[in-house]
Amino acid sequence: MEAIIEVKNLTTKFGERIIHDNISFKIFKKDIFALLGGSGSGKSTLLNTMIALNRPVSGVVKILGKNILELDPQEMLSMQLNFGVLFQFGALFSSLNILDNLTLSLREYTILPPKAIKDIAMMWLNKVGLKQEVANLYPNELSGGMIKRVGLARALSLSPKILFLDEPTSGLDPKGAREFDNLIKELRDLLELNIIMITHDMDSVKGIVDRMIILKDKKIFFEGSLKELSQQSDSIDLFLYQI
Ligand SMILES: Nc1ncnc2c1ncn2[C@@H]1O[C@H](COP(=O)(O)OP(=O)(O)OP(=O)(O)O)[C@@H](O)[C@H]1O
Ligand SMILES: [Mg+2]
Repeated sequence: MEAIIEVKNLTTKFGERIIHDNISFKIFKKDIFALLGGSGSGKSTLLNTMIALNRPVSGVVKILGKNILELDPQEMLSMQLNFGVLFQFGALFSSLNILDNLTLSLREYTILPPKAIKDIAMMWLNKVGLKQEVANLYPNELSGGMIKRVGLARALSLSPKILFLDEPTSGLDPKGAREFDNLIKELRDLLELNIIMITHDMDSVKGIVDRMIILKDKKIFFEGSLKELSQQSDSIDLFLYQI
C-alpha cells in the first residue's frame, strides 16, 4: 500500500516540554485516518505539524513524496495548496456571507474570472448538501450542522488532495453527526480524497475510520485498524472511552 503521509522519528516540543517523543506512523492513500488520544495528548499539535503551522524539533514529515520540513517558501505554498483544513469551529468570517466565505481562497490563489469562481463555490455548496439559497446568508443565520458543511465546502474549494478535519462532528447531535460522517465518506469515495481527522466521536471511528493512531504519554500507543485494535483488546468500547 502506498503512503500519502509518512511521519518518521518526529519529536515536537513547546519550550522544554516534549509533546511527541520520536513518533513514526504512516497514512495510506485514500484511507480515512483518525488521530485519537486524550485531551492534551498532542493531536492538534500533530495536525498543525503536518500542515506546517508548527515546526518540530526533529524528524521527517513526508507528504506526497516530499519532506515538508525541507521545502523553500515557494515549494511550501504549492504543498499547502494540496491541503484543505476544516477547523474545529468552522472558522467562517462572520461579516462575510457564505458565498464570500467560500470564494475567499479562490480569489486569493487563482486568476479565474469572477463568474467561474462563483460557479465553483456553488458547486461545492451543492456537493456538501446545502441549497443554493444558503450562499446569501451570513454565518449567524446557519445551524451548527450547516456551519460545518460550509466549512467543509470552503476546505474543498481549491480541490485539495488531502483534507484535514479537526473534530468534524463535535457539537452536532447524533443524527447530524452520522449524516456528516456519511458526507465525509461519500466525498472521499467521489473525489478520491485522503482524509485525516481528529475525533473524540467513537461512532465515527467505528463507522467510517479505516486506520488510526492513538497518542498516549508522548508516544503512539496504537496504530492500525479497528479490527486490529479489537484483536488486542477485549472491550474496545471501554478501552476507547478511557483514552
Ligand atoms: N502553542 C503552544 N504553546 C505551548 N504549549 C502548547 C501550545 N499548543 C499546545 N500546547 C500544549 O501541548 C499539549 C498538547 O496540546 P494539543 O492541543 O496538541 O492537544 P490535543 O490532543 O489536541 O488536546 P484536545 O483534545 O484538548 O484538543 C498541551 O499540553 C498543550 O497545553
Ligand atoms: Mg486539540
